[in-house]
Parts: sequence; structure tokens; C-alpha cells
Amino acid sequence: MTRKRVLTGITTSGTPHLGNYVGAIRPAVAASRSGECDSFFFLADYHALIKCQDPALVKQSTLEIAAAWLALGLDPELVTFYRQSDIPEIPELTWLLTCMTAKGLVNRAHAYKSAVQVNEDNNEDPDFGITMGLYSYPILMAADILMFNAHSIPVGRDQIQHIEMARDIAQRFNHHYGEHFVLPSAQVDDGSAVLQGLDGRKMSKSYGNIIPLFSTEKQLKKHINKIKTNLLAPGEPKDPDTSAVFQIWQAFATEEQTAAMRQAFQDGIAWGEAKKQLFDLVNGQLAEPRERYFQLMAQPGEVEKVLQRGAEKARVHSTQLIGKLRRAVGLSALD
Ligand code: TRP
Repeated sequence: MTRKRVLTGITTSGTPHLGNYVGAIRPAVAASRSGECDSFFFLADYHALIKCQDPALVKQSTLEIAAAWLALGLDPELVTFYRQSDIPEIPELTWLLTCMTAKGLVNRAHAYKSAVQVNEDNNEDPDFGITMGLYSYPILMAADILMFNAHSIPVGRDQIQHIEMARDIAQRFNHHYGEHFVLPSAQVDDGSAVLQGLDGRKMSKSYGNIIPLFSTEKQLKKHINKIKTNLLAPGEPKDPDTSAVFQIWQAFATEEQTAAMRQAFQDGIAWGEAKKQLFDLVNGQLAEPRERYFQLMAQPGEVEKVLQRGAEKARVHSTQLIGKLRRAVGLSALD
């Protein structure tokens, strides 16, 4: 039986935070270890160039994200783990797909539309500050997915539209040139938590409210102490369901620990004490991977080797498919 092929990309334009861990890394590593699926994970560094034009930052983020996934138990022998820009067939496929993509389809992409909306609200030219990278990024993303004929794409809700576009593009290509692509589906895991950040909004780099996944113990403690709380005093009952402290607790705790903390909130646990317990819980789970992480960060050459090996594995698929596609569209030797 062929295993379901699962593929996802991580944009290399930031430092991994607790929200990435709980929402993406932890479930992906667990799924890849279960042996039920054939997993492809890649560092989406071409995508990073859309929002980040600082070369040092893109490079640093690539190392940090690769080291984080490896430190948290991703086994590169069990999965295909690679860097997007090591696969030259991806930009090549992007062009073949671009020529089969209706402009009207791309006009409807949320990311592009909301950038236009911001310009209109500010009485700017609608295209102000919008690059062709931002505009056509759904096609690059379709190439990422279709290149490896992945069935299932674990993503956040904000990415569902892109997977649907990849499906539309694949369908159109298949219809015109013959059946080359598997039609992918988005896999949105409502069970995995979307973590709140320091200010109670979704934890996200764009809100500047993140808790970094790997920092020193001292910095982790400092960040946890910065989580916004209300002014209720020790002894006063507190509402767990509106508290970021409780919500982060829940993402790391067992069911029993969660029930006990819920009770402690009702019994009026002091914020300082709740945060102390949260630090102990999170720190306990991150202590070992943190050590591995800092070891890997100090040996970028080792991480590079893992990625090169991953690219070799990935290119077995991509070179074969691109050869077929080139012939299908009429780009082939004349004899
Ligand atoms: N655009 C995705 C994000 O911002 C990252 C990504 C790039 C991706 N290529 C992908 C995710 C292919 C899934 C499949 O989260």
C-alpha cells in the first residue's frame, strides 16, 4: 500500500516560537514518527524573499528553523527534509504553471487583496509596494506541492485558499496536457491549538507578541512573566478561558494537569504563581531539545549536510517529474 504523502513548507523569515511548535512542529513530527504517512517538509526560503529582503535574516532564520525541527525530533531518515532553493525544478515548474494559471484566479488571493485594500484605505495607488512575488506567490506554492504529488497539506486556516488554487491549477494543467498531478487537499487540524501571544492575540511574528521557542531559561522566564494578565489579586477567582497563561498551560499539559490548573484558577491562584508553574512546565519539556538546538546552531555545517542529503532525496522525484512535464508541454530535444 502506498502511504499518504503529506507535504508542508515553513517560511524562513522569522525565529521559531511556541505557537509554531504547538501548531505545526509538534503535530508534524508526531505524524512523521507514526510511520503512517510519507512526509515531505521543506524550508520555504523562496517564499521568505517575498516578505524579507534582509539576506542575513533569511539565512539565520533558515538555520534556526532547520535546527529547531531537528532538535525537536524530526528524523531526516524517516522523512524528506529539504530547502526549497536547493530544488531548481521548483522555479521551473512555477513557470510552467504560471502559463496555465488564469490571472483572474490570482487576483482573488487574500494576501494580495488585503494589500490592495490597505492601499485603497490609505488613498494610495492600489499597487503601491506590491511586488510580483507577493502577487504570484500562490503559483510558487502550487509548484511546491504539485512537484511532489502530495495528497495532504497540513496548513493553518489562512492557507486553505492557496491549496484550493493549487488544485485548480493542477486540474487545468491535467486537462490540457494529460494527467500529471495529484489533486492536493488542505488538512486543517482543529485539534492543534492556535496559541495566544503575550498580548492575548494569536501568537505571531507580525504582532510582535511571540515567546521564542529556544532562548535561555532566563529569557523564557522573562517572556512568560510578560504575558498580559488582569489586576485580580491572589485569592480572587480567575477565568481560565480568557487567560493566555491558562491557554499556553493547556497546550503543554496533560489532561489531569489542565484540570488541576483550572481548579487553581477558580481557587484564586496568584498570577505570579501561575506563571511560575507555567515556566516549570514549558521549560521541562524544552530543556532537552534546547540543548540539541544550541549544539546544532553551533554546527551549521552539520545542518547543511542534512539539508543536502534531503535535497538529493527530493530531487529523485523532482528531476523525474520535470522531465516528463517538459516533454508534455513541448520543451524537448528535436531529434
Ligand atoms: N505559504 C505558507 C505559509 O505562509 C508556507 C508554504 C510555502 C507552504 N509553500 C508551501 C505550506 C507548500 C504548505 C505547502 O505558511
